[in-house]
Amino acid sequence: MKAIILSGGKGTRLRPLTYSGAKQLVPIANKPILFYCIENIIQAGIKEVGMIIAPETGQEIKSTVGDGSAWGIKIHYICQDVPGGLAHAIRTAREFLADSSFVMYLGDNLIGAGIGKFVDEFNRNRPEALILLKEVDNPKQFGVADVSDSGKVMRLIEKPEVPPSNLALVGIYIFSPRIHDAIEVIKPSKRGELEITDAIQELINMGCNVESFILDMWWLDTGKKDDLLTANAIVLDEWLKGDISGTVDSESRLLGRVAVGRNSIITGSTIRGPVVIGENTVVENSFIGPHTSIGSNVRIIKSSVEHSVIMNESELRDIERLEESLVGRRVKIVENRKTHRALRLMLGDDSVVEV
Ligand code: G1P
Repeated sequence: MKAIILSGGKGTRLRPLTYSGAKQLVPIANKPILFYCIENIIQAGIKEVGMIIAPETGQEIKSTVGDGSAWGIKIHYICQDVPGGLAHAIRTAREFLADSSFVMYLGDNLIGAGIGKFVDEFNRNRPEALILLKEVDNPKQFGVADVSDSGKVMRLIEKPEVPPSNLALVGIYIFSPRIHDAIEVIKPSKRGELEITDAIQELINMGCNVESFILDMWWLDTGKKDDLLTANAIVLDEWLKGDISGTVDSESRLLGRVAVGRNSIITGSTIRGPVVIGENTVVENSFIGPHTSIGSNVRIIKSSVEHSVIMNESELRDIERLEESLVGRRVKIVENRKTHRALRLMLGDDSVVEV
């Protein structure tokens, strides 16, 4: 079995971060979202991965991910010239996929479990498509499935006005090569894209067996700031291991699970985990509260921050309280007057904010 990971898209809901970077590379617990997808695919035993990239952000993805040798696999890059939809992405990858069954994984989705069981289920039953579903409160925002008691998919609708169920398509699918026949038949949707939901519906119309698999762990679509902070908190809660490679002075207190990367220096500070801090970062006379990820080459001086993601090379100085914030790269937040109110910010790369 092969896999394709979709790493295009404009990431409009994460602007301004996505003006200067791919949404799939935004870090969760200091690791790009995309790396969690790759690792999940590898854990399921898949060694050939096609990375679908867009002309705008493809180069950044290529240089960050590399050829796959870091994970012992081969990553092929396939450029989707136009944002033509998920089914169009499959069509673009036709040559790479050849006659293989494949996993299609949307590169901004994070799930709380591996996909091993999902792949096993496909191999056992050999349907033409197996789709991963999750019960959600807001089905109108997703592709929604109408499923029989035995798990057979009867109907799929993209972003329905009146959802037939609360079962959303997670964005991880497994297909047999029959999907290519279905994609040749469908027409672009109202938004001008070849929709994967339409292609799967076409498979059903062709009399093919389309089955579902319900995810019983969390699923986070990391496309928006608050979802991203929630994903960061959950990943830190569940997967972070305490590990101190940097230097922590005797005036500092580390409580709970805290990871401090190489060459980072913590002085006169309290860090209440779960917190991850990257490399070459300085934390001085500060408080870092739970569910915070701080990147590399960051400076946090006389500040308090919690439930936030601070990306590489940024600086916080004399900030009394920063929370629920997503701070891009090379951002500078410095105090220039006394204020006691908490700050809630979403800042893009290279921003400078004086408060
Ligand atoms: C896509 C799919 C949708 C699915 C969602 C999951 O939507 O079309 O069926 O539920 O991903 O994230 P999009 O994010 O392109 O709006």
